[in-house]
Amino acid sequence: MNKLLLHPATKPLAFLLCLGPFAWLVYGALADALGANPAEALVRSTGDWTLRFICIVLAVTPLRVVSGWNGLARYRRMLGLFVYFYVVLHLLCYSWFDMGFDIGEIVRDIAKRPFILVGFAAFVLLTPLAATSFNKAIKALGARRWQALHKAVYLIAGLGLLHFFWMRAGKNNFDEVFIYAGIIAALLGWRLWYAFVGKKRKQAASAATAAKARPRTAG
Ligand code: HEM
Repeated sequence: MNKLLLHPATKPLAFLLCLGPFAWLVYGALADALGANPAEALVRSTGDWTLRFICIVLAVTPLRVVSGWNGLARYRRMLGLFVYFYVVLHLLCYSWFDMGFDIGEIVRDIAKRPFILVGFAAFVLLTPLAATSFNKAIKALGARRWQALHKAVYLIAGLGLLHFFWMRAGKNNFDEVFIYAGIIAALLGWRLWYAFVGKKRKQAASAATAAKARPRTAG
């Protein structure tokens, strides 16, 4: 699997695969195949794909650690940028089809509807993550600060979920919301457990080094 993941052709193929939902939506719009309300279908599908890509990004490290497929690491940045790509499309579809690109109307709607405000907050928080996903930014920030900043992805996942929950609350339809909530909770739970185990291991290693360095007393 690692060989496949590191093959030069695999990343461009993964890139095309990530563009698949976008291509499908463009085709659907051009072929008039998006159902009775194409505008709503576009807003909703791009929202769904944003949340799906958030889940995919959050799954990269657990999958890499559990399976040993270290080649997955080279896909994380691209997948993260696809989260941003789909949320920008989502925001554009909403701004165009729901709001007719009326900035004043958009601002009023963000202030008026809490579920839109929460989605917008998630978008605002995603922006610095997307802007700092390049090597130059990572160097400028330093690895520690960059990692701390990118932990915000869990907060963004929570806000995206709340946005979805709030939207579906009006329709009393929570089935999909619970599926996403379960996936995100499991991935966050794994991350916390992994950080805890890592800390314990570090403590044990430094205790062992300290014991070795201590001079032996005769006795
Ligand atoms: C990380 C950020 C976001 C995520 C993960 C997200 C996700 C979603 C999801 C999953 C849906 C429901 C789709 C469905 O019913 O199948 C949705 C709907 C929607 N979102 Fe977002 N969204 C985000 C940001 C935004 C932003 C920034 C706006 C606008 C300012 C927005 C406006 C909407 C609207 C208008 C709907 C459709 C509501 C309806 O049809 O009743 N979202 N979003």
